[in-house]
Amino acid sequence: MNLIFLGPPGAGKGTVAQRITDDLNIVQISTGDLLRGAVKEGTELGMKAKKYMDNGQLVPDELVIGLLKDRIAKEDCQNGFILDGFPRTIPQAEALDTSDVKIDKVINFNVPDELVIHRITGRRICRECNAVYNIYPDCDPNPTEEGKCDKCGGELLQREDDNEEVVKKRLVQYKEQTEPLIGFYKEKGILADVKADNPLDEIVEDTKKAISG
Ligand code: AP5
Repeated sequence: MNLIFLGPPGAGKGTVAQRITDDLNIVQISTGDLLRGAVKEGTELGMKAKKYMDNGQLVPDELVIGLLKDRIAKEDCQNGFILDGFPRTIPQAEALDTSDVKIDKVINFNVPDELVIHRITGRRICRECNAVYNIYPDCDPNPTEEGKCDKCGGELLQREDDNEEVVKKRLVQYKEQTEPLIGFYKEKGILADVKADNPLDEIVEDTKKAISG
C-alpha cells in the first residue's frame, strides 16, 4: 500500500506515520528527513538544499524529485510506503504520476495555523532515529526523560527551521504551493480528510479508518 500524507508543517504527518507504519508493514519516507540527512553528510545536494530549508522555502523540484525516486527504488519500499512531505508542488505530483508508482490513498491533515506554530516551537527530534517529541505538556508525545529519546536513548534536538519566524514562512509556502494538491487528489477520488487538532490517539484511529475506508 502506497500512501501520501498531506498537510501543513506541524500537522502531525510524521508523528502519525511513525505510529502506523509497523501495523501496516510499510516504511515512512520523509523528504524533510532525507534532505536533513544530506545536509548532515555535507553532500552537494545537501549544501544546495540547506539555504532553502533554513529560510522556510521549498527546495527546487528537480533536487527533491531525484532524491525521492532514488529512495522509493530501494528494497524496503517494496511492500509500500507513506510519503511524508512529498509531493509539495503540482510538478512533484505530476512526476509521481508519470513514474510506475500507484498511490492508493492521500490523507489530508487539517489543523489551524495557531496550533501549527505552537506545536512546531515545542518539537524536538531524536538526532539518532528521527523520532518526534514535544516539550509542551499539551502536545504529544512528551519524552519520558527530558532531552532523551524513549526509543533509542539518543539526544533530542530542536530543528534549525523550528522557530516562529521560519514556520510562518513555511505556512505561506504551504498555502501557495502545496494546498493546490488537495484539489489535484480530490479529482482523482483518492483524498480523505482527517481532523488533526484532536488528541493524537484519536487522529491515529481516524487515519487508520480513512486508509481502510
Ligand atoms: P519537513 O521536514 O517535511 O517539514 P514540514 O512539512 O514543514 O513538516 P513538519 O515535519 O514540520 O510537520 P509534521 O506534519 O510532520 O508534524 P510533526 O508530526 O513533526 O520539511 C522541512 C523542509 O524541507 C521544508 O521547509 C522544505 O524546505 C524542505 N522540503 C521537504 N520536503 C520537500 C519537498 N517535497 N519539496 C521541496 N522542499 C521540501 O508534529 C509537529 C509537533 O506536534 C511534534 O512535536 C509532535 O510531537 C506534535 N504533535 C503532532 N500531533 C499532535 C497531536 N495530535 N497532539 C499534540 N501534539 C501533536
